Amino acid sequence: MALPQLPHVGAQFYSMFKETVVLARYVFRNEKGTQFVFTGTGTTGMESSVVSLVSHGDKTLTLVNGYFGHRMLMLNQIHGARADTMEYAEGKAADPDDLRKKLGRTKYKVVFVTHVDTSSSVINPVKELVEECSKAGVLSVVDSVCAIGGVPLDFDRLGADIVFTASQKALAAAPGAVLVAASPRAIDHMENRKAPIESYYMNLLRWKPIMDDPRMYLATPATQVLLSLREALAEAKKEGIENRWARHKKLGEMVRGRVEGWGQRFVAEEGHRADTVTAFWVENNKAGEIQVALEKEHGIVVARGLYDDRDKMIRVGHFGILTIEELRRALGSIGEVMRELGVIPRQIRVRRPKKK
Ligand SMILES: Cc1ncc(COP(=O)(O)O)c(C=O)c1O
Repeated sequence: MALPQLPHVGAQFYSMFKETVVLARYVFRNEKGTQFVFTGTGTTGMESSVVSLVSHGDKTLTLVNGYFGHRMLMLNQIHGARADTMEYAEGKAADPDDLRKKLGRTKYKVVFVTHVDTSSSVINPVKELVEECSKAGVLSVVDSVCAIGGVPLDFDRLGADIVFTASQKALAAAPGAVLVAASPRAIDHMENRKAPIESYYMNLLRWKPIMDDPRMYLATPATQVLLSLREALAEAKKEGIENRWARHKKLGEMVRGRVEGWGQRFVAEEGHRADTVTAFWVENNKAGEIQVALEKEHGIVVARGLYDDRDKMIRVGHFGILTIEELRRALGSIGEVMRELGVIPRQIRVRRPKKK
């Protein structure tokens, strides 16, 4: 990103962009679908999948078990869907049996699922949920913003119609780019829908030709952000996507082991805790104090809960290019700060009796 400003017209940009799309395909494991990369954020991925697939009055179902599920529901409502929802308590994973029953009772056009809800660190059983959608002949959309690059995902095999992520999470690039994969069925649906797509910028069909020929103009891309994304994706390829998933699994296990050792309660239920982010409750509303002290004294930044959970929850992101050793040191600092603030007891040193 520190390179001289890259113009968005010119051979250098075109070849860089084409390379980025090929690398994005590698990370998504998307050979059969359309791969999109454009300027935006994770929310652009959410909104473009809603407007591109859903027409006014369509019946949609959103599985909600955290803040980002709620946002997806809200976007469906904003764009005129008859938006139904299956809501779970914070940290509880969506149940494929519930979905099967729901799809058996009502005919929906599209089902929306959050892969990892970053607000609670719950990971949903996406494979099973998408399978239920495929069996029922319903289009499915997966918000994989907090998953792709850190959690196994194979777009071609999954069978979902749209999967998207953003540049800044497990891909470890600068924020500002959105990456979307769309199945041939999704594209077909967009091309043959009766009502036109009610958006200019979020209309995936408008972006499709640009992916094949970036010399065509739709809107000016954030070239430096894309440069950073290209580098980040190249790093992911160099590491190998399976190795990256395995590293994240180790990172996840390490954090969970430490949180258990501290005696803190996880927000996400057992068996559904993500390998990219871990949320845990802290006593006495001390999340803010922990966050401030960690940054000031150790240069480590963790997130708090969102909205009502602001003071009660700490969320540790452990994705991207983080190494085991870096995480070990960060966890040491988190433990130290929590002890200083009296959130967890100071270590009790067992004194051995002196030998006479
Ligand atoms: C699961 C999930 N979906 C969507 C978003 C929205 O992404 P952005 O903030 O990049 O718009 C986020 C952001 O953290 C997220 O974690």
